[in-house]
Amino acid sequence: MTEVPESKYTFADVETARELERLRRIEQVFDPGSRRRLEVAGIARGFRCLEVGAGAGSIAAWMAECVGAEGEVVAVDLNVQFLDAARMPGVRIVEGDLREIELVPEQFDAVHARYVLVHNPDYGKLLEVMLRVLRPGGCLILEEPDFTAARGVQGADLNAFDRVNRAIVAMFEAGGKDPGLGLKLPAALADRGLVLELVENEVPLCRGGHPVADVMSRSAIQLREKYLATGCIDEADLAGYARFAADPSAWGIYYGTVGVIARKPRVLSG
Ligand SMILES: C[S@@+](CC[C@H](N)C(=O)[O-])C[C@H]1O[C@@H](n2cnc3c(N)ncnc32)[C@H](O)[C@@H]1O
Repeated sequence: MTEVPESKYTFADVETARELERLRRIEQVFDPGSRRRLEVAGIARGFRCLEVGAGAGSIAAWMAECVGAEGEVVAVDLNVQFLDAARMPGVRIVEGDLREIELVPEQFDAVHARYVLVHNPDYGKLLEVMLRVLRPGGCLILEEPDFTAARGVQGADLNAFDRVNRAIVAMFEAGGKDPGLGLKLPAALADRGLVLELVENEVPLCRGGHPVADVMSRSAIQLREKYLATGCIDEADLAGYARFAADPSAWGIYYGTVGVIARKPRVLSG
């Protein structure tokens, strides 16, 4: 397998208009689950919230509606090109790497990130910052993928589907990133002294045309060169993966999402 030097954000350097569409699709598919978890975590009027890796901004905008004028929402992203301030009243947008921007310790009641840590080889450093800026008694809500869950069930292009899934895992590993990060989060948070209030692992079994299949098909277009550079697949596999993702008679698991709600105790131990 060819080593891909990949420490920067996985989707850096991809085509911009397509990336906005892909992010909006992710929001359509996954926002209901994220909102539910944020509600379980107790988001309410007056809350101060941090949205890490805000992407196209729908969750930050929704948080601002929930917390009202008496609350506060800060949306951080490495690249804020998809965050339209006019569509996000009440949200303070900050461009930068979470590890490098200045944030006051213990200022937030809730910190949320979805599909962000997996793109960072040193995700532990991001967790450190998240914990530092969370007030004692506040909640961390994380949703991260497990790409190791992927497997085909049936379909004319089953072998191509499975090979591309192996390439996805290889791409993350070659960049020093953990393709199964979601699975590690509950233990990582418990080890840091947080109290786990919810642990979920959603692993949708999808037929071609399912919204999750569509998201992954879009990712395969954006990351084509990186998938090919793993040496696990060729162009024909990518074409087979696209057909599989569009074929209603093809069934498979594309990835799982682990959702965790963890509370920072008033006195942090460990
Ligand atoms: C896959 S997108 C997910 C966007 C959004 N959270 C969602 O689920 O709709 C990951 C986002 O995290 C941002 N990101 C990744 N690492 C980051 C870091 N260290 N600091 C700030 N933002 C980061 C990327 O720029 C990108 O916008």
